[in-house]
Amino acid sequence: MSDSNDLKRTVARAALSHVIPGELLGVGTGSTANHFIDLLAAESISIAGAIASSEASATRLRGHGIPVLTLDEALASGRRIPVYVDGADEIDPGLNLIKGGGGALTREKIVAAASDCFVCIADESKCVDSLGRFPLPVEIIPMALGLVSRELVRMGGIPALREGFITDNGNFILDVSGLHVFDPVAFESELDHLAGVVTNGLFARRKADIALVSSADGVRSLRV
Ligand code: 5RP
Repeated sequence: MSDSNDLKRTVARAALSHVIPGELLGVGTGSTANHFIDLLAAESISIAGAIASSEASATRLRGHGIPVLTLDEALASGRRIPVYVDGADEIDPGLNLIKGGGGALTREKIVAAASDCFVCIADESKCVDSLGRFPLPVEIIPMALGLVSRELVRMGGIPALREGFITDNGNFILDVSGLHVFDPVAFESELDHLAGVVTNGLFARRKADIALVSSADGVRSLRV
């Protein structure tokens, strides 16, 4: 029986085959992404540079000697970012995601939007029939804490401030439980329109293109 850490490492290894040597690479955040970074370094796959979705991932990449570019540097170079590899907290059958358990959702959404192909890596515990069991992370401007919390309650959610956590962008995270996500694209947009919301953790407008999912039986590659 594989434990969760083994499954994360196994799926991270499977993602290496999606890396295009000599090209830029978007790199996500979290424990599965950390395995991916470590394996990328261990396998000495040479890339033009990584665009990291968090300070933590940038530090880890640099620690392995992998060059890190800002997104603006990458875009100014005129190069594409053909692949973005990142984990998820939930994956539905349409490859819509909930992300942000590590609090990096805003930069993750930015790097995903800038990339041609989003390869999501996760163990099978992340697969759900419909999104919403995992409390939805919402990054908010600190002064809007009360206002956004009130609106989220009005929408049927139970928001909880992630205590002692400040995002890389200097903001707060509300983890919102009790939400039923019937239409991920519409709900993502509705949440983003609340004044004070920076980003929410629904990745439906820009969902994964490929999900690699590990289980004791191996790694499945899912596309829609
Ligand atoms: C960070 C994320 C992560 O990808 C997500 O939380 C999954 O993390 P892990 O790989 O540690 O299970 O969205 O903001």
